[in-house]
Amino acid sequence: MILLSITTTKNSGWREKIKEANKLGLKEIALFPTCLNKKQREELYFLLKKSTIKNIPFVHLRSDMNLEELDFFIKNYKTEVFNIHTQAQYPLIHDYSKYKSKIYIENVFQEFDKKELKNFAGICLDLSHLENDRLLNKKRFSKNIKIIEKYSLPIGCNHISAIKNFTHLDKSGELRYDEHHFENFSEFDYLKNYPPKYFSQFIAIEVTNSLSQQLKVRDYLFDSLFHKNFLNVQIDFSKFFVIPREETEFWIQKVIRELKIVNDKLQILDIFAGTGCLGIAVSKNIKNSFVDFVDNDKKAIEQIKINLKLNKISSKRYKIYKSDLFKKLEGKKYNVILANPPYVAKERLNEVQDTIKEFEPKIAWFGGKRGLVIISKFLKEAKNFLNKDGKIYFEFDPFQKEEVERIAKKENYQIQFFKDQFQKFRYAKLNFRDPISKI
Ligand SMILES: C[S@@+](CC[C@H](N)C(=O)[O-])C[C@H]1O[C@@H](n2cnc3c(N)ncnc32)[C@H](O)[C@@H]1O
Repeated sequence: MILLSITTTKNSGWREKIKEANKLGLKEIALFPTCLNKKQREELYFLLKKSTIKNIPFVHLRSDMNLEELDFFIKNYKTEVFNIHTQAQYPLIHDYSKYKSKIYIENVFQEFDKKELKNFAGICLDLSHLENDRLLNKKRFSKNIKIIEKYSLPIGCNHISAIKNFTHLDKSGELRYDEHHFENFSEFDYLKNYPPKYFSQFIAIEVTNSLSQQLKVRDYLFDSLFHKNFLNVQIDFSKFFVIPREETEFWIQKVIRELKIVNDKLQILDIFAGTGCLGIAVSKNIKNSFVDFVDNDKKAIEQIKINLKLNKISSKRYKIYKSDLFKKLEGKKYNVILANPPYVAKERLNEVQDTIKEFEPKIAWFGGKRGLVIISKFLKEAKNFLNKDGKIYFEFDPFQKEEVERIAKKENYQIQFFKDQFQKFRYAKLNFRDPISKI
């Protein structure tokens, strides 16, 4: 969830923000009592009680807040996560071990301390601080990225603020690009360069802007960060970070045109479904189709469910299987099998897009030394799941064309190759010629 915030720096106008929340009827926010002393916090808690706000899932924890204050939030506002600064910056006064599974340590212009992180639930990743480091302190940026990647510590919450295209000096004399106030939505565009796995369930927009401005930026972020239009369907890849490619979009469009001409009741299999983009595009465009989705990754399964809902595909028109290849499909037959298997060859690692290399799950793309391990297994079995006139359409790497042809012929398929929009052989259409029935 992307949460609007009430911050409490000097000119943030936190009392006015509570009034604004009441006016807007807001029930849920993130709270930053960062700059309030005990007396001011008591006033804040009093105003909150009389407000429309009923949920505060994410609270910034000041090092002097006592356990009763944490209890207060958890009991009254269902608070699920807190963030703190490192103890090197603000030594803790109270013992928070009772709630250590809810407390995450934020990167505030310092390197993560692995030992300290292990004493709490994990990381509160402030992406604007991280981006500021990327621009001004590459060494610290790389070290923090390394710790995040190497120890795979949970990222439990995030702060996001604006990144300007000019620097300013903060009150401690530090040069900074990040600021807790935005003028343009584009000041959040840096977020598109970070993979969804750096985002958590609780993302607080940490800015001093009015709540109504924050509402607008929240809509902007939701549309621009984790969504892609794929043909005429919406694909969310926030749970399973595999971004549908334009080459895939190109060939599935051609296939849909072909299938529309037939316009029969089609039983379709989308195997290696990932986000489900192929099968969902077919469901949306071919009214008589029924699609089975298969993937062996539980996050992909979760993502397929989200995308089917997002595109309002009736549950009567699909089934989802978590399966290693065809294992859970025994006895099933299809008119069409669509496949975008993991086919990137290990030896071509240097040539693939940076996002695939750095952030996407390796299992989603890599198919062994020559990229053909999964393709071979797939073609060996797929014929048993085709109807009499059934067809397979699948994607491969242009450099694999000859080897794909060899495997297909060995498995008794007839194969036709087609080019993508960049004039490279990218997909094939196969049908099975049963050698026994010819005798
Ligand atoms: C290239 S991605 C598919 C991308 C998908 N068409 C999309 O654009 O969202 C390959 C998918 O195959 C899945 N996969 C890999 N090995 C598999 C196996 N043995 N059985 C089933 N699925 C597998 C991966 O989890 C991944 O989702």
